[in-house]
Amino acid sequence: MTEQISQGSPLPSAMPSAAALEAVRAMMSSAPTQAPAPTEPVAQPTPTPMAAPIPPAATQAPTQLPPPAPETQLPPPVPATQLPPPIPTEVEPTPLAAAVAVSQAPPAPQAPAAPTPDPAAAPFVAPIEQISPAAPAPLYDEIVHEHEIQEIPWTGPYDSIRDYIKAMEATGNLVHVPEMDQDEYETTAFVYRSIERLGYWKAPALLVDRVKIDGQWVEGPLLANAYGPWAAEALCLGVPMDEINDNHEQMYRKTLDLIEKKMGFGGLPKVEPEVVDASVAPVKEIILTGDDIDLTKFAFIQTNPADAGRYMTTGSVMMIDPELGKNTGTYRCQIKGPRQIGVNPEPNQDGWRMIMAARKRGEKSLKCSIVMGADPLVFTASSTKLGGPFGGDEIALAGGLRGKAVQVVKSEHSDIMVPANAEMIIEGEIPLDQMLPEGPFAELYGYLGRAKEENFFMNVTAVTHRPKPIIVNAYTGIARAYCTAPVEAGFRAQFRRSVPGFLNMHLLLQALGVYIVQINKTSPGQGISAGLAASSASGLAKVVIVVDKDVNIYRLDDVMASLGSRWQPVPGTVLIPQSQGVPLDPSAPKRGLTSRVIIDATRQLAIEGGPESLSPVSRELLEELAPNAFPNIDAKWDTYFTNDNEA
Ligand SMILES: Cc1cc2nc3c(=O)[nH]c(=O)nc-3n(C[C@H](O)[C@H](O)[C@H](O)COP(=O)(O)O)c2cc1C
Repeated sequence: MTEQISQGSPLPSAMPSAAALEAVRAMMSSAPTQAPAPTEPVAQPTPTPMAAPIPPAATQAPTQLPPPAPETQLPPPVPATQLPPPIPTEVEPTPLAAAVAVSQAPPAPQAPAAPTPDPAAAPFVAPIEQISPAAPAPLYDEIVHEHEIQEIPWTGPYDSIRDYIKAMEATGNLVHVPEMDQDEYETTAFVYRSIERLGYWKAPALLVDRVKIDGQWVEGPLLANAYGPWAAEALCLGVPMDEINDNHEQMYRKTLDLIEKKMGFGGLPKVEPEVVDASVAPVKEIILTGDDIDLTKFAFIQTNPADAGRYMTTGSVMMIDPELGKNTGTYRCQIKGPRQIGVNPEPNQDGWRMIMAARKRGEKSLKCSIVMGADPLVFTASSTKLGGPFGGDEIALAGGLRGKAVQVVKSEHSDIMVPANAEMIIEGEIPLDQMLPEGPFAELYGYLGRAKEENFFMNVTAVTHRPKPIIVNAYTGIARAYCTAPVEAGFRAQFRRSVPGFLNMHLLLQALGVYIVQINKTSPGQGISAGLAASSASGLAKVVIVVDKDVNIYRLDDVMASLGSRWQPVPGTVLIPQSQGVPLDPSAPKRGLTSRVIIDATRQLAIEGGPESLSPVSRELLEELAPNAFPNIDAKWDTYFTNDNEA
């Protein structure tokens, strides 16, 4: 279980992306290489000059909503459904309860330490690159139809999802096919299968030129599993190109280090957006208003046959509130008609608060703009609480992550400033006195969520987009939807200050609710203390497994081996009978509540109830007593897998 950080390891565990792609292509061998002529012509929305907003026609009859309730009657606060905010703190380590046996009533977890910025610590400010206004924005045709692998691909941060797709394709992390039949749920099955066969971190992104929806071929492209492979994180966050290789684990470690450096001691820096004119904004190339808008003509798909219908799963919903400021949050939007969509911020999300605040002010509707196909880090900022709850403008945070400003342009019908390089903006108004049913939808943990009787919706007044806008679909509960490294880097920065001996942590997205925490254990009780600290910092941390410094936390086999060989359930376990949980957890007996467990899988010292002496680790003995064994085998590794050998 030696912690290995191999340098571009040729071992099978570091299967080259090209090989991964070959495997996928083999899976796809039945797919045609040339797009057959569409069976029916696809109607494209007609570009029109900008026109005044027209009153939108509601497709579903909304129910009238009772007048806004006073705040005390609003639903009780529940934690966000999403990854919790990284909270950089300068506070002293929280004193933690000692381990208790499972039979005893355990202490309630301590509340996470409040963020206390250290005024003395100057925030790290990443250098801002100069943006050449003259640089042309590459169009879809130029970039996506280049099939050759580029000799010198480039690394991020990217200004658009097109640049990112190009880099993913060039580095062998993207499969491009002409078409898939979504009436048969082929893209969904592909994402499941590629993860099953290639592994969670190596399954490539998938770009499909056109998809069959309701019997019609709809021009995409559709992008699936956009941020699945770990290499995607390294590209998006800008690990230098000469350090990009096929070792996904190594890439992820490098990405985390890079972000932590950007965060410095003061947390993630913010870089204010740069306003550009609509004439140079790619997202304004086509402007649709009134009856020219028909959202059903775009490649928004139904992901699971049990979903309520077609969804925009990756819409970054932007709003402005006179007191709360600006907000961008990813909330799923059900396509309800050509000019009507659902908008689904869960209670207590920032977007939900803004809608409630507008209702309380007695307003009849709230304008918002929804971004589809933002650049990878704008989407990441929109999908996480990088700045903490009400952590401020996500676009400025994305600028901080990128190390350069996001270019923004004014919406057609409001003052909301939207990313100029996005694929599409959907503008409209959310009525504040009416609601519509929504769902069910196959949710985060991989289970069908419940249908909602009432939910917000938006009447669409304008759609602006690039030619052939790329529609990114999130395969919720199946694949990773955004770059998670910024979230983990935030936790690392926080735990470094609050968890004694902390080395690293990892939250398993393939087993949502399970956190691995690695410590350098030097004193008794430290494992349980670390576990309690991690558990109390996150609503998602239902199971926390604490492991020793020699365990590779990115390899589940190693973590499981620790459970088998190092953990004694008594006394190495703390049960917390009830605490705040994630409302979407299908195991929760009561929505929003969860029990928790801390598993101390570090080697137990005698004073903790462990054995009198610790048995030597066999692999360490091999490395120490036969130092040439691994180097010899590594040097000859490729020769064992030549065709000659196989014959
Ligand atoms: C693909 C995707 C879909 C999401 N859908 C929803 C949703 O429908 N409702 C919701 O409240 N949060 C959803 N989230 C989580 C939020 O985007 C996340 O909690 C974010 O921090 C919310 O922004 P806010 O803090 O500004 O409210 C989704 C996240 C992703 C990545």
